Amino acid sequence: MYFGVDYYPEHWVFPYAGTAEEPESRWPVDIQLMLDAGVNVVRLGEFAWGLYEPEEGKFNFDWMRRAMDLFNEAGIKVVLGTPTAAPPIWLARKHPEILPIDAHGQIKHEGTRRAYCANSDVYWEYTQKILRALVGALGHHPALIAWQIDNGIGGHNTETSFNEETRRDWHAWLKAKYETVARLNDMLGLSFWSQRVTRFEDVPMPRQTPTVHNPALIVDWMRFSSDTLVAYMRMQAQLLHELTPSIPVTNNLRALWRSFDHFDMAEALDFVSLDSNATINTKSAELACEIDMMRSLKKQGVRTPDGDCGFWVIEQKAGNVNWQDVNSLVRPGVVRLFTHQLISRGACGVLYFLWRQPRIGSEKFYGGVLGHDGSAETRAYREIKQIGHEIKRLAPFLKGTRVVADVCILYSHENDWSLRFTTQPTQHFHYREHIQLFYTALHDKNIPVDFARPTEDLSRYKIVFAPSLSLLACGEADLLRMYVQNGGTLVSTFNTGLVDEHHIAPDSGYPHDLTDVFGLEVREFDPLPPGEQNHLTFRGAFPATHLHPGKLWCDIIEPKGCQVIGVYSKDFYSGKPAMTMNQYGNGRAVYLGTMSDQPFYHDLVTWLRNLCGLHPLLKVPDTIEVSLREKEGQRIFFLLNHQNSPVRLHFYKPMHDFLSGNTFTGSYDMPPHGVLVLDEQPEHRQAAAEHAKTATVHSGQGSAPAIAAG
Ligand code: GLA
Repeated sequence: MYFGVDYYPEHWVFPYAGTAEEPESRWPVDIQLMLDAGVNVVRLGEFAWGLYEPEEGKFNFDWMRRAMDLFNEAGIKVVLGTPTAAPPIWLARKHPEILPIDAHGQIKHEGTRRAYCANSDVYWEYTQKILRALVGALGHHPALIAWQIDNGIGGHNTETSFNEETRRDWHAWLKAKYETVARLNDMLGLSFWSQRVTRFEDVPMPRQTPTVHNPALIVDWMRFSSDTLVAYMRMQAQLLHELTPSIPVTNNLRALWRSFDHFDMAEALDFVSLDSNATINTKSAELACEIDMMRSLKKQGVRTPDGDCGFWVIEQKAGNVNWQDVNSLVRPGVVRLFTHQLISRGACGVLYFLWRQPRIGSEKFYGGVLGHDGSAETRAYREIKQIGHEIKRLAPFLKGTRVVADVCILYSHENDWSLRFTTQPTQHFHYREHIQLFYTALHDKNIPVDFARPTEDLSRYKIVFAPSLSLLACGEADLLRMYVQNGGTLVSTFNTGLVDEHHIAPDSGYPHDLTDVFGLEVREFDPLPPGEQNHLTFRGAFPATHLHPGKLWCDIIEPKGCQVIGVYSKDFYSGKPAMTMNQYGNGRAVYLGTMSDQPFYHDLVTWLRNLCGLHPLLKVPDTIEVSLREKEGQRIFFLLNHQNSPVRLHFYKPMHDFLSGNTFTGSYDMPPHGVLVLDEQPEHRQAAAEHAKTATVHSGQGSAPAIAAG
């Protein structure tokens, strides 16, 4: 398994390190410290264009080759960045048309990074030139195992630009999609405010205007902008595949933060890598959700450097970040905990950002493995060294294992763009927060979750959650119908099927094309201001542990054959359904007409678990996070204590912990931020049989070990 750091050799030469006589003398010192910590890979060079090519056509890759040679001698492999995230100053001076223009018509100037428009022909041309030169110089270096294309694509709000070349490509994209101007006018609904056009060339880019643009146009614009970034990534990937076919390509993505389709982007890559922020304020369920989103981006065709099937964490923060209001120190043990959390959810490579706090530039107070003084006497170095040794122990057992989920949450970028960038019934609805309510409930009950787009094959999932697919393409609705018909359990919510892929509202009732699947029709919806609540009362077997509110949005539902599970208890729609279930084909479709607080979603998952025969991975105290990586004949459980206090576990079977080498029986106090990596080895199963008589608590799937709360 690859374990490493992001390293900037250019930061560690004279006058910032080394001496005038031996400017690079710090490099071997760093390498030795890396080796001691178990490092076997580094990422280099993702912003180095201006150093590789200080003047147009005058290349100097020698310094990087010397660094790579040293790494190679030490047996440390290299992921090399293509340096296009930071175009050199001379390029922007010579070709200012590469600089991105924003919706106000303002240029984003040169002098930092990401100052390029991905529609610029000139930028494509220069990208190919620097890639060819880079591959010529370093692409066949024995240390090289992967390319990272660009860096943080779309970051710093560069997902869209409004340049003249963007306008040209936008019109070509529209032409390819609609073929005729008449169709474009109809499908985009340009009769509204009579904005019809007679030529494709007259369709505006959605720049700053007196009021909001046509939503159909906005969604198309976001699709087009996403396709632009994916095309730029694909162009680099294709060139690299052609020049170095054996070297896989990746990019550092963030969990669906940016406004491009991350699933499309992942298709252009051989394997997905992510940036992860271990900060003390982040909740474990939110981090876990991000990790599962990223793991789910590429479910097939993964090609990692060592042939493993997961994803990489190419920037796991080694300490504090530098972009919060207050960048507090990360507490001892937290980086280790978050690293194991990433691995537990499928990471098969982890690199820390960054090896050493730079003495120059805008990230000098970012937490590093080493501080400015370069001493290894740091808390972070000790912690990472410990993790390095743990990973060495774990790696052979983890190889080839994967996370398997029976539950899936749907995520649609197009829907997200529609919700964020067009007028909505309420400004207080947040798609991501709504998803998190479902995710947290599943996470807290230790039920593994995949994410998927609505167009994927969902047949393998027992339950599919589809929160707020407000923009739902007709084809997507058909797939959901089929999923239920064939025996699946679909859980949808308010704010579903209000518009189709053309942003046209249905004339056949909401949710469009699915009213028969849910056995209901939403007649009206009532968005509630913050602070206002309705209340829900339940019928039958729904296990309500609290008085659950209805918040933010209340659908007024006319049942048409569905079973009513819960009703509103206030206002003129008091007594009307708020939650329903419908048998359709061989499956069921559950509908939640409102939003509630977190405890409702916990109750919902308890109810669904019984309904669908879902089991938690293990029974443990609520505060312990459990994940499972498995392959034929091997099940490895990760237990993480996210608390600042110890948590007592009871083992009803002896369990072997890979990290400590201990076998646990009876009770064990898991320390604050503690991690256990437990397996089910045959000899332990044997031993477990002896203890079967005393095993009073059994949970999880048939053969899952039983651990119970103290
Ligand atoms: C991203 C970038 C890094 C660094 C961090 C700071 O992850 O890839 O270069 O700037 O952000 O948060």
